[in-house]
Amino acid sequence: MKKIIAILVIALLFSSCSSNNESKKYQATSPNGTIVVDFNLNAKGKPFYSVVFNNKKVVDSSYLGFEFTNAKALKDNFNIVNTTTSTFNETWQMPWGEQVDVVNHYNELRVELQETSELKRKLNLVFKVYDDGIGFRYEFPEQANFKEALIKDEHTEFNLTEDYKTFWIPGDWDIYEHLYNTTKLSEVDALQFANHKNLAQTYIPENAVNTPVTMVGADGTHLSFHEAALIDYSGMTLKVDTKNLDLKSSLVGSENTDYKVKRTLPFETPWRTIQISNNAPELIESKLIVNLNEPNKLGDVSWFTPMKYTGVWWEMHLDKSTWHYGMEHINGEWKDTGKAHGKHGATTENVKNFIDFSAKNNIGGVLVEGWNTGWENWIGFEDREGVFDFVTPYPDYDINEVVRYAKEKGVEIIMHHETSAATETYTKQQDTAFALMQSLGMHSVKTGYVGKILPKGEYHHGQYMVNHYNNTVEKAARYQVAINAHEPIKATGLRRTYPNTISREGLRGQEFNAWASDGGNPPEHLPIVAFTRMLSGPIDYTPGIFNIKFDEYKPDNQVNTTIAQQLALYVVIYSPIQMAADLVEHYEANPKALQFIKDVGVDWQQTTVLNGEVGDFVTIARKERLTENWFVGGITDENARTIDVDFSFLDADVTYQATIYKDGKTAHWDNNPTDLEVETLTITKASKLSCNLAAGGGFAISLIKK
Ligand code: NOJ
Ligand code: CA
Repeated sequence: MKKIIAILVIALLFSSCSSNNESKKYQATSPNGTIVVDFNLNAKGKPFYSVVFNNKKVVDSSYLGFEFTNAKALKDNFNIVNTTTSTFNETWQMPWGEQVDVVNHYNELRVELQETSELKRKLNLVFKVYDDGIGFRYEFPEQANFKEALIKDEHTEFNLTEDYKTFWIPGDWDIYEHLYNTTKLSEVDALQFANHKNLAQTYIPENAVNTPVTMVGADGTHLSFHEAALIDYSGMTLKVDTKNLDLKSSLVGSENTDYKVKRTLPFETPWRTIQISNNAPELIESKLIVNLNEPNKLGDVSWFTPMKYTGVWWEMHLDKSTWHYGMEHINGEWKDTGKAHGKHGATTENVKNFIDFSAKNNIGGVLVEGWNTGWENWIGFEDREGVFDFVTPYPDYDINEVVRYAKEKGVEIIMHHETSAATETYTKQQDTAFALMQSLGMHSVKTGYVGKILPKGEYHHGQYMVNHYNNTVEKAARYQVAINAHEPIKATGLRRTYPNTISREGLRGQEFNAWASDGGNPPEHLPIVAFTRMLSGPIDYTPGIFNIKFDEYKPDNQVNTTIAQQLALYVVIYSPIQMAADLVEHYEANPKALQFIKDVGVDWQQTTVLNGEVGDFVTIARKERLTENWFVGGITDENARTIDVDFSFLDADVTYQATIYKDGKTAHWDNNPTDLEVETLTITKASKLSCNLAAGGGFAISLIKK
């Protein structure tokens, strides 16, 4: 139940002809007083803002404005017509999530601007200042002289005051699946990644970064830049001015139009956000991004249940089986023979094997990829529209029988819709596809958008696709279907408004370890991801690979962590659907480690980040909603280290049976990744424990109430 604790509105009215007076303060301060945002106009009537944190300027005077293809720029000659400040404080509940209760407490400054020139166009700016950061957005109110905005670009600046240590991926218009770079802000060079060999689509037009981009200052100030509530607009990249240490918004465009965003007034832009903290753990605990989104519009969403899942998936990435049913490699070329080649993964029998395994191991779902016709012609083809239809199974997959069998075993089948980025086909078929799911009692689908977007000229992160992704989520909700999108648009907290946006990819996932020609995801990848990509929302990373080297399938590839780290990821990475990604036979060969996957929760009452440094290590404790058991996961980069865990976060007066899964003495991500030790202890709130993490290692602890 939403509870509004206090709303206080103080309206300060200024007459419309008041002159701009720089000595006047237009300001909002965070509830705890540590963050202050100032807004004003310069002598030319140009709007700017600045941000102070702990009495230090972290964003110096930064200008705000727009350029259009159908109108004069909106950036100067403004007057302040009216300003309002208010306070808001509520606590809302997540239907599933990292925690149940979320405090949404901020002070707001709303500024109404009007041009002094003849058009007298209006623009509002709204700043919300929280204890964990700020969000601001532009409102284009209804007005006589401005009906439609064709936005050429948005000019929002973040003028920084220090050459921060920056954790970034390039501002690719098409994919977020890049490794993170750690450089000074002044050394960001995104264009070096303009031609990436492992990606089916990529476009990096300028020296910009994608968000979230996280920075660490010399005094320990942590900043992360992103956006919230990305609706009917294009994604924002941040262009880096390496000389002036300045970030400038640069929207994702389209080859089909000379504008980047088209909107009819009135409308609002997404929130431009800066998460601000004194340390790395607080960045992960920040709820700024979800708080800046509207409350749940779907009402009761109890038809979806958070779950762990297995699936017909990793085996295709290992080339053990295929998505397609009838293709053969003949004289160096793939040919559609129309005849079964016997390696098809999504067979009734194989899926039943996953169902049996899941049912035995407290795993609620089974994902089936490659179940529908079309995989013979899905990739590399120009004309991909009409290839997939999302309702026709291959002859060796009896979808009704699989669903019946799964139900009998208490397991849910997870649907798969690879669209191959042929968006018109998918849009046309969604009703039929979601209706089929509903009739079969299937409540979640993994969608995929591999390849260049059709219609040609559009990019994954532009306005056309933002609308496609959001419309898909809304339409799916009508059929009680939840979406886990791969090759998605970035998460911007819309899961608050549409909780059926359960998870997404939007990063270099585990799959890269199976086939990337650059050695896969290095040990530092996830200790960076936890403080960058994960700040935006849930991640379908697909952890839990036990056969780390899989030499029998791919001698040149491997996972670059220890097995203990693979277990820790079930706690470190948040997602309401969490895959146990390895093959059944690899799990059955290691019952000792499998026990943790069997026990670990997926839906949390509370989350505490115990320690961490961006790019180095992180330890997270989460309390499971239903059982009130706690789970702890810690991971490290390529450096071995000792992590001390103080269990004071545990509930008082409870004794826990703790099982600790840790790197063995000789463990090492490359030399000995499967060296795992399991120890059982009795733990209480007063306990302390020292854990030795191997290079690329980790530890996982289950704390079951006695
Ligand atoms: C890319 C996705 O990330 C992966 O998980 C999936 O298996 C393939 N596309 C096929 O849809
Ligand atoms: Ca992918």
